[in-house]
Amino acid sequence: MSGEYSHRALLNEFRCAEASPRRQVGLAGAHISDDRKPWATKVQRIVRGIRTPMRDGAIVRLRLSEDGTRIDAVLVMKAAYVEGAIRFDLAIAARHLDSKGQGVGDDILECFETTCQKILADNLLRSGLAVSHVHRQNKPMQRLLSSRGWTQLAPEADDDPDYEYWGAVIPAS
Ligand SMILES: CC(C)(COP(=O)(O)OP(=O)(O)OC[C@H]1O[C@@H](n2cnc3c(N)ncnc32)[C@H](O)[C@@H]1OP(=O)(O)O)[C@@H](O)C(=O)NCCC(=O)NCCS
Repeated sequence: MSGEYSHRALLNEFRCAEASPRRQVGLAGAHISDDRKPWATKVQRIVRGIRTPMRDGAIVRLRLSEDGTRIDAVLVMKAAYVEGAIRFDLAIAARHLDSKGQGVGDDILECFETTCQKILADNLLRSGLAVSHVHRQNKPMQRLLSSRGWTQLAPEADDDPDYEYWGAVIPAS
């Protein structure tokens, strides 16, 4: 994955959410969306709105499909010091719907870990805490994180009830 930022048109076309079945409600032409995976729609909207470089210092990594016609994988992450320790936020991990079930999530997590390890090495640090906010029903993301050693963190009082925190310690390489 690269940090190439010249893909605005492809970002605008990024698709990781399946088209919602629509249900007609009363007035002709009025529809509501039956959105069964609100997290995927939210991620898709955020990715389509990415304008780099990000003002908040977020790191963006994109991977193009082999034929260059779509963005295949997206990673958005941040690194910050929190209470004297480095913390990595995995904000967005998303594969294009056309690459579903091909292990792209693993590639994204690998890119995340490599980027964390570079930051740790640059700052002569031994490890950092990685954290991600995951929708409770987002089983693919939870399975992906579990398979790479992440665990669910204890909830805090003011947490959004639809989301849970997951975390992992990232050691320097
Ligand atoms: C979260 C996400 C990146 C995980 O990617 P992934 O692990 O590669 O999984 P996919 O969603 O592409 O694949 C779906 C299925 O194929 C399976 N699969 C993945 N790689 C596979 C491979 N190489 N061989 C066979 N099956 C595979 C997965 O285990 C999953 O099966 P399951 O639902 O029965 O567990 C992906 O689901 C996604 O982009 N979702 C939308 C955005 C999102 O929710 N992001 C997370 C919050 S930021």
